[in-house]
Amino acid sequence: MKVTYYGHACFSVELCAKHILFDPFVSPNPLAEHIALDDIQADYILISHGHEDHVADAKVIAKRTGATVVSNFEIVNWFASKGVENGHPMNIGGSWQFDFGTVKYVNAVHSSVMPDGSYGGNPGGFIIDSKEGCFYFAGDTALTMDMQLIGRQFNLDFAVLPIGDNFTMGADDAVIAAEFVGCNQVLGVHYDTFGYIKVDREEAMRKFQDKGISLHLLEIGQNKEF
Ligand code: NI
Ligand code: MN
Repeated sequence: MKVTYYGHACFSVELCAKHILFDPFVSPNPLAEHIALDDIQADYILISHGHEDHVADAKVIAKRTGATVVSNFEIVNWFASKGVENGHPMNIGGSWQFDFGTVKYVNAVHSSVMPDGSYGGNPGGFIIDSKEGCFYFAGDTALTMDMQLIGRQFNLDFAVLPIGDNFTMGADDAVIAAEFVGCNQVLGVHYDTFGYIKVDREEAMRKFQDKGISLHLLEIGQNKEF
C-alpha cells in the first residue's frame, strides 16, 4: 500500500489499483502550497467528519475525478446537494464491501458540522481491510476505550492517528491508541497546520519509540510504502 501525505489530515492510499483519498484539505493549507490540487487522483474520497479542515477540497476533486464520496449519511447528502454525483452513505458501526476492499465506519469522539453550518452527522474514522493490507484512520478524535475493539477485530498494517493535541489526541494519548488498536506503525497527522497544534516532532517520535512503536511524520507530498 503506497501512502502519499498531502498535509494536515489529508493523505491518499493506492490500494488494489484504486486511489483512496482521505479528508482533502490542501488549497487552504499554506504548508501545502507546493501541491497541485489538479494532480491529486481519486477514485474514492473518504471523509471522517464535516469540519472545513477535512472537507475543503472534496467537492472540487470529486467533480473533476468523478470519485465516490464515502462518509456518514448527512455528509454524503450535503455533497449531493452541492452537485457531487457519486456518494455512498454510511453510519457508525457499519461496513460495506467496495471494489478495493471493505470499509468500516467507526466512532470518533469529536464534533461535526459542515462549513456552511449544516448538520454534519456524527464524526467517525475508517478501517480499510483489503487483500493488499489493512489500516485504520482515526479521523479527529480523543483517545477512547472503544479503540480496543479495533485491536480485537483487525490485524492492522498501519494506523493513521492525530497527534497535534488541543482539538484531538496529542502524542501521549496517540501512543496508547496505537497500543489499543495493536499496531506499531503509525502515520501521524493533524499537527503543525495552525498555531494550536504545533508539535515538537522529535519529542513525539521519542514518545512512540519508548513503547516500541514507529511514528512516521512524512513531508507534505512524500510517499511511503506500508
Ligand atoms: Ni475536526
Ligand atoms: Mn480537524
